[in-house]
Amino acid sequence: MAERESGRMTDPLVDLYSKLAAGGVGAIITGHLYVEQRGKYAPGQVGIHNDDLIPGLRRLVEGVHSRGAMIFAQLAHAGSQSRVPGLTPLAPSPVPNPLTGQPVAGGSDIDIEQATDSFAAAAKRAVAAGFDGVHIHAANGYLISEFGSPLTNKRDDRWGGDQQRRGAFARAVVDAVRGAVPGEFPVTMKVGMIDAVEDGLGLDESVPRAGLLVEAGLDAIEVSCGLMGAPTDSANTYVAVGPRRAAQDLLLHRMIGSPRPEAYFRPLARAVKAEVDTKVILVGGLRSTSMMRDVIASGDADFVAMARPLIREPDLPSQIQAGREGLVDCTSCNLCLIHEGHHPLQCWRTPRIRLLRHALYRLRGGFRQAEVIPTRH
Ligand SMILES: Cc1cc2nc3c(=O)[nH]c(=O)nc-3n(C[C@H](O)[C@H](O)[C@H](O)COP(=O)(O)O)c2cc1C
Ligand code: SF4
Repeated sequence: MAERESGRMTDPLVDLYSKLAAGGVGAIITGHLYVEQRGKYAPGQVGIHNDDLIPGLRRLVEGVHSRGAMIFAQLAHAGSQSRVPGLTPLAPSPVPNPLTGQPVAGGSDIDIEQATDSFAAAAKRAVAAGFDGVHIHAANGYLISEFGSPLTNKRDDRWGGDQQRRGAFARAVVDAVRGAVPGEFPVTMKVGMIDAVEDGLGLDESVPRAGLLVEAGLDAIEVSCGLMGAPTDSANTYVAVGPRRAAQDLLLHRMIGSPRPEAYFRPLARAVKAEVDTKVILVGGLRSTSMMRDVIASGDADFVAMARPLIREPDLPSQIQAGREGLVDCTSCNLCLIHEGHHPLQCWRTPRIRLLRHALYRLRGGFRQAEVIPTRH
């Protein structure tokens, strides 16, 4: 248990990312690497919060580079969305996290400055480990998006009180990270453009903020949602799954009902592209080769990114380059997401035996018993 919670890189993870690189992914953005201990999201997560972790991170980078891909380190702080039991999470204000319901205290100036410094120190470690860039996580209800939202930032000081001050923490992090890395080193950000919770952040506030962050030195923006009421707000379920595909993948409850739409964050990408001079990465529900081509051809985004399709088919990009057309295999069932913090990342639908293992884990109460603060859904 102690080694699992050390935040160190593991051999299975190096293998997983190396497989993606060998499978033709051009640039990989890692999963969250927590920048300070209290910013850890889930048990078993890998960190970038101290120098001892650099050799392991370097091994990861070398594994990916040797197979011809680039790799960015995702610098993250979970804020009050941490699901690690026993941590004292950080948040802008004492507002229970919308996803976990966890109560939390508002951070002091010192806490906030420490968190900012942790992002800078983590960026330096990423450079030392040989990463090709850093990608700051400012979406999906984690700390930076909590500062950016009127629902979770109730402060009235330099870190909150109006639109401009709600953007101050994101700006401080970008400035700190930019100051910590060489001049040409790529710094990008996953930005929560709208809260998935009622009365939350909207594009009127987030698009001008994105423009200021680009002026401060971001090289690209990946669009996503901010605060979430459910994990499916950023990872929508059953995207492009019609009755036939549902039957093939044993999703019997989806055999009636229409397929959910692809590329569900495309309007956010379009909104940023219209106002901000930057490269935009579109993630979220890219499931057909025709949609991927259309997004790029339309200019709505400069890059398409995928998460779940690559969990199921790590060699998907090579297949597409070789002429594969149509839908990807992933049916967005989110079993891989449900097991976060419980089991290493894998697709739970293939091979089929894994579905049985999932069912047994659930029936035996695994999700209730394991040491993870549950989400509310
Ligand atoms: C199991 C799992 C883990 C994820 N972990 C991260 C993460 O560490 N950092 C991040 O920015 N997004 C993470 N995401 C969200 C994805 O990056 C992506 O935004 C979302 O799944 C929608 O894209 P997709 O439809 O291609 O899966 C995760 C998603 C899944 C399913
Ligand atoms: S478990 Fe497999 S099919 Fe389901 S969302 Fe994850 S990768 Fe896709």
